[in-house]
Amino acid sequence: MTACPTLETKRLILRPFRDDDLSDYFRMMDTPELRESLRTPHNEGKTEAWTAMAWWRGQWELRGTGHWAVEEKTSGSFVGRAGLHNPEREDWPGVEVGWALHPDWWGLGYATEAGAESVRYGFEELNESRLFSTILMDNFRSQAVAQRLGFELISTKVLSHYPIEPHGIWALDRK
Ligand SMILES: CC(C)(COP(=O)(O)OP(=O)(O)OC[C@H]1O[C@@H](n2cnc3c(N)ncnc32)[C@H](O)[C@@H]1OP(=O)(O)O)[C@@H](O)C(=O)NCCC(=O)NCCS
Repeated sequence: MTACPTLETKRLILRPFRDDDLSDYFRMMDTPELRESLRTPHNEGKTEAWTAMAWWRGQWELRGTGHWAVEEKTSGSFVGRAGLHNPEREDWPGVEVGWALHPDWWGLGYATEAGAESVRYGFEELNESRLFSTILMDNFRSQAVAQRLGFELISTKVLSHYPIEPHGIWALDRK
């Protein structure tokens, strides 16, 4: 049993992370595109990828938020992660909607599709009145996803977990 629900969208399955996702998850996190976008430290490898999977799954158990592993329905392929993130950080804005895909699945609308389901879940199931997305200022693909979902940039802020550069703080209010 897990607190992380399995959900379906038109083309995707959002499901709890499993231990056997590790090689697919690490393959995604280890691409130059993901390392650059997420500013992943050079010494982070498979061990940290496993810790992150446990962090996402554990967050569902402890807080009712977390990222799902995202699968393509037609092929069953692992394409990335998306969901809701609410870590214990003093300056975290609130429940964040986030997304990351293996570059092989960029340009198909999958992040927006998984993001839309995450937004629905945040408003309807978690009853949040405002959702956030924190995005580095040069991450234009991620900003485009946020815009497609209706988020607006409300401020820029240096957040304590990554003091090197400011993040854009994007927000979406429940209609
Ligand atoms: C951010 C990220 C998830 C965006 O992925 P993406 O594929 O660009 O975003 P979407 O899934 O919404 O796809 C949108 C693109 O698919 C196209 N598309 C094709 N078919 C589509 C369909 N059926 N429906 C919607 N869009 C479709 C859109 O036109 C758009 O194309 P464009 O990029 O040429 O404008 C991806 O770049 C990524 O994983 N980056 C690294 C991790 C990261 O930075 N995460 C965010 C941290 S804040």
